[in-house]
Amino acid sequence: MKKITAGVIGCGNISRFHFSGLAQAGARVKWVCDLQEAAARPWAERCGATWTADYRAVVQDPAVNTVVVTTPSRFHKEVCLAAIAAGKAVICEKTLAENPADALAIVRAAERKKTIFYTSYMKRFIPAVEQAKALLPELGPILSTHIRAHQPWGDLWTQAPTEGFFHKPRRGPSPLVASYGGGILVCGGSHILDLVCFFLGRPRRLYAALEIPKGRDYDLRAVALLETDHGPVHYEALAHPLKTVGFLRDGWDERIEINGVHGRLEVFSALWDQPEHKTSLLVHTDNRTGRAVEYRGAPVSPFDRALVFFCDNIRRGIQGAQDRRTGYDVDELIAHLKRSAQTHQAVDVKWKR
Ligand SMILES: NC(=O)c1ccc[n+]([C@@H]2O[C@H](COP(=O)([O-])OP(=O)(O)OC[C@H]3O[C@@H](n4cnc5c(N)ncnc54)[C@H](O)[C@@H]3O)[C@@H](O)[C@H]2O)c1
Repeated sequence: MKKITAGVIGCGNISRFHFSGLAQAGARVKWVCDLQEAAARPWAERCGATWTADYRAVVQDPAVNTVVVTTPSRFHKEVCLAAIAAGKAVICEKTLAENPADALAIVRAAERKKTIFYTSYMKRFIPAVEQAKALLPELGPILSTHIRAHQPWGDLWTQAPTEGFFHKPRRGPSPLVASYGGGILVCGGSHILDLVCFFLGRPRRLYAALEIPKGRDYDLRAVALLETDHGPVHYEALAHPLKTVGFLRDGWDERIEINGVHGRLEVFSALWDQPEHKTSLLVHTDNRTGRAVEYRGAPVSPFDRALVFFCDNIRRGIQGAQDRRTGYDVDELIAHLKRSAQTHQAVDVKWKR
């Protein structure tokens, strides 16, 4: 088994979870890369790594076998393609790209080069989600699924912010869109589109509506009805001002409910950036026994679990159970949701791979 020698490209907010995951996975971080030295230096010191502002130095180092891409999504294509061309295994933050064509170009490049490639949709690694997936066959034929990401973003509905992360200046994008590429659909909504694919497979048809308040460049609500081979999915991503809703009463109200002939699975996820002390919940109601069983694990970071899974596979030289195309699937669904919302029409999902 080979050792993981990694370079991390992009040392902003999300990177701390990836550094933690790499440490959990026993990987050595040789390079940390960021355009801003101040963002990268503390990580370079902590990991005993070298800082560079030029990602090419990372991907050209023959000692590096794994590249973790945690830049804003608009840089993912350039960095991922360079790393793949250099034959590295790549773990890229979500969303994979700014559009499905770019996402597909990345996936196809990895397939052609036969390199290991993951888009890090870490919610698949929430213990309650993993356990729900394992229990899914217990439900028998699936009848209906409700999935929602209701996230507390403060009151962005009644007034447009005049400064800060959600402010849309006269020229250029809001900081939200510059960093993440969109509003609630791209931020929270992308994860639950990935979970739709994870639990039920790729949807074949959908109808969607998006709410983009006047004067903004981002949506605050995305609703959709998705048709899958396992029944309809009622989908909603919402940025809301409610501070004390949700199963932990902290405003985070993300849940999945899957109903089958033999029972129901309910997943309640916890605030994504506080995995160290907030745990998710799974409830399985078995229609045959009439019993409902609650599963509450210890708090554990899904990022750590994801990185351990990715690195174990990279060590063994296999792609493993997560397909390279995961990030493309979500980007294609986002594009179809937007098209449906613009045209007020239901659309067949035209998968290109
Ligand atoms: N999984 C999740 O739930 C989740 C949550 C938040 C963000 N994200 C994703 O993580 C990614 C990064 O988000 P963030 O919040 O850390 O953003 P951020 O703006 O805080 O950090 C990005 C960093 O990348 C650096 N950077 C930009 N271009 C670069 C380049 N060409 N080379 C080297 N460094 C470069 C910037 O200087 C910055 O320090 C985005 O794709 C975002 O969508 C995922």
